[in-house]
This record gives sequence, C-alpha cells and structure tokens, in this order.
Amino acid sequence: MIRFCLNGNWIEEHDIDPNWTVLRYLRTNKRQLAAKEGCAGGDCGACSILIGQQSNTGSFEYQAINGCITLLGSLHGKFVVTVEGLKEAEQLHPVQQAMVEKHGSQCGFCTPGIVSALTALHFNRLHNQQGPVTDHDIHIALSGNLCRCTGYRSIMDAAHAMFDYPAPTEHSVINRSAVMQFDPKSNTQAHTSYLEKDGRHLYVPQSEQELQQLLEKYPDAKLWAGGTDLGLEITQQFKQFDRIISLHQISSLKAVTHSQKEIRIGAMLTYSESESVLAKSFPSFVQLIERIGSRQIRNLGTLGGNVANGSPIGDTPPVFFALNARLVLSSINGEREMTIQDFYHGYKQTDLKKGEYLKAIAIPKLSAQQSLHVFKVSKRKDDDISAVLLAAVIEHEGEVITDARIACGGMAATPLHAVKTQQALIGKPYTLSSFEQASDVIVQDYSPIKDVRATKEYRLQVAKNLIIKTGLECLGGL
Ligand code: FES
Ligand code: FES
Repeated sequence: MIRFCLNGNWIEEHDIDPNWTVLRYLRTNKRQLAAKEGCAGGDCGACSILIGQQSNTGSFEYQAINGCITLLGSLHGKFVVTVEGLKEAEQLHPVQQAMVEKHGSQCGFCTPGIVSALTALHFNRLHNQQGPVTDHDIHIALSGNLCRCTGYRSIMDAAHAMFDYPAPTEHSVINRSAVMQFDPKSNTQAHTSYLEKDGRHLYVPQSEQELQQLLEKYPDAKLWAGGTDLGLEITQQFKQFDRIISLHQISSLKAVTHSQKEIRIGAMLTYSESESVLAKSFPSFVQLIERIGSRQIRNLGTLGGNVANGSPIGDTPPVFFALNARLVLSSINGEREMTIQDFYHGYKQTDLKKGEYLKAIAIPKLSAQQSLHVFKVSKRKDDDISAVLLAAVIEHEGEVITDARIACGGMAATPLHAVKTQQALIGKPYTLSSFEQASDVIVQDYSPIKDVRATKEYRLQVAKNLIIKTGLECLGGL
C-alpha cells in the first residue's frame, strides 16, 4: 500500500499497476482532468502538478513536477496539489485570477501546467524568500512550460501581477497541506511500501538496509530515481517493468557531507537540491545545472541517476570526470569506491554489479590554483539536450599549466577524457596561445557521430572552440 495526500486528503492505494504514472492515475482513476498529456516526455509541462515537501534548508516548499513521467509509487509519503485543489470556494487562487485578468490563456491546454509552475513560485516567494520576483525567476519557473497560442507576454504579466491579489487563506488546500507536514499514520509506515497488480510490483524501501534486502531478492528489479529518462521508456516506448524499486524515501541517499577536501553528495539529491549545495565551491557547475531540462525536470532528476544511467549525453558526468569525482557503490556485501572514469565500460554500460546501487558521489574541492570551466552547447538555452558539453579543470603554478583535466559529453559512446589535448596543455605556458595550439589536438581525441543534434564536423569545431574559450576564461579574456 502507498499513502499520499492529494489536495488535502490522505489516500491509500494498493492494486494499481506499478507502471502507472501520476498523470494516468489522476485522469483515469480520479477523473481530475486539469493536468493534460502533451508530449508524455517531460518537455511541454502540460502535466505539471505540485509536490509539497521539506526543502534542504528545512522550510516547507512546493515544487512543480511533470506528472507524465512520475510514477504513482513515487508519491508515497508526499503532498500533492493539483489545479483542482487551488480554488477556495468560489475564490480563484491569485495565480488563476491573474491569468484570467491578464489574458494569460487562450485555448487553455497549457494553462493548468502554467498555473502549477507559477503557484510554486508564488508560494515559495511568499513563505520562504524575500524580495520581488524578477523576469529571470519567472523564466526559470516557466522553463518547462510550452504555450503555443497565448504568447508569453501576457503570461509574464500574470506572473508579475499574482502578488497583487489576496494570498490564499489558512483554510486553503495549499496552506493546509503546508501545515500538515506529517502523515497521521507515519508511525505505521516503517516498512517497505508497495503497489502490486497482475504480477507486477513496485517497492518503496525506507532505508538502505531494506533496499539491499530487496536487491538481494530481486537483483533484476529496476531502480527508479527521478525517472526523467526511465519514465520515457514507459510513456514513449510502451515498456512495462515487472519489478520497480523507487528510491525516493531513503533519506541516507540524499545525505550531503562537507569536509575540507571534498563534498560528498547522496546519489538521490535532485538537480534543484544540488544547486545550493554546489553553489559556493562550483559556481560554473551550478550554471550548467540551471540549463539541464526544465525546473520541473530538475525537481525530479537526480545527480546519481544521471551518472548511473550511463548515457553519453548526460550533462553531469563530464563535469565529474574533470573534477576527478569518485563514486561510492553499495550492496548487501558492503561498499566500494571507484573513480568515475573506471565506471563506464561502453554505451550505457557501467561497472554496477547485480544487487549494487550508486550511493554517493565524492567531489574533491578545487585548490586555489585550479579552476573549473563548463560549457553546454545546444540548440535552445532551456530544456534541450547537449550537442557538445565540455568540462575542464585547469591548474597552473605561476606561468605554467601544471595540470589539465578535460572531458566531453556527446562526443563518444561514453563521457571521455580528451587525453591528447590534456597532454598538449600540461607543462605549457599559461597563455592563450597554449590553449589555441592545444585546441588543434582535440580532433585526435574524439570521433563523434552525426545525429539530429549535430554533425561530426560541427561537434569537433565546437569542442575546439571551447578549448580556446576555456583559455579565455582562465586568463580573464571573457
Ligand atoms: Fe509534456 Fe508531461 S505531457 S511534460
Ligand atoms: Fe493554448 Fe497555451 S493557451 S497552448
């Protein structure tokens, strides 16, 4: 049985197909039809709903997520608010009222998703943050919402105007959910929860110990982190999984520890959660994270999922390569650590053994002589897949480059170090011309493919240019 709070009411479900998404459940079982299916892939935002939870700073916040790729089982223990729960008696929520009065909706297909995304911004700004919202805040909040017919100007007007209306009262669902932070039956929940139907199972372990026992019993079960990639296998490739283990309730997989030498982040930390954790030590990494998917995707997707998935176009692995990150893998037999470059064996092939899971990522901090440079090149700024991603850590002592660690994504079947380019830089003068000369070598490091995102020649030219750009950033030329 799984339990979650939907629009202020605790619900228990047991015999739902574990492969069902939240969107399918809402529209089919609950006949809540506000959230729509557009792309079924986390791109358009028509399915956006709100999840309330404790942030890593301890405050209660709402996050918009894509219901189309979120498994119903991932809602266990969570507070869910949909557009159906926003109105108080006959009074529209301020976001809804502003959308009406600023003409923010024409056909209305995208509107519930846009209202959900803006409601998260509205609630969090009102309760947790100071100062007026800026255009940038609104762009980030709406980065995962497509509107084809209204045009964004009036939606932006509504977003600015939403604070001009009276805030929801304490009786509203959105505020009631915020104070009902504890499941009244939570003390009976200290065991693995599950869904089961037609021989298919979904488990929600509460601890790593439970997870290890489940993996010992079912080594072929699918591990489900944020589901931002795996979810598409269900919604777009129509796959069905017989056993799924959702990792979202295991708090130790979200643990973050700082030491003098490194930051160790739990594999289940979402992109959004990692922004504040990494901001001080790795600001250029955070700038990249802000360009991964949309806000809805970043609220779901996890750093560990991005690494363990093994995709050659995952955005964070090249950065972890450059930073010399180590991975902590765990199973019922204990833990082991390895460098990230030893983790990948081939296209979507990793060193994870049956029964093992990625527990944490240990990122060494940079010394005063080192700098991190990260560039993502894609066709759109938001919500797009990289054609080329380049990450570089450059170390210099005085006038000499003493170390260079460069890795690219999108250039081979796995993320890969640019070994020859690195060698061409190490020991050279710390000048722009060293980077210009080394950039010619990058064609020897990679032989990328042509696909819908870019040609081979384009990728090589971009990678070459990014080496020069790294030099410009190092030497203050940008
Ligand atoms: Fe498009 Fe979910 S339906 S993001
Ligand atoms: Fe029609 Fe946005 S109002 S798509």
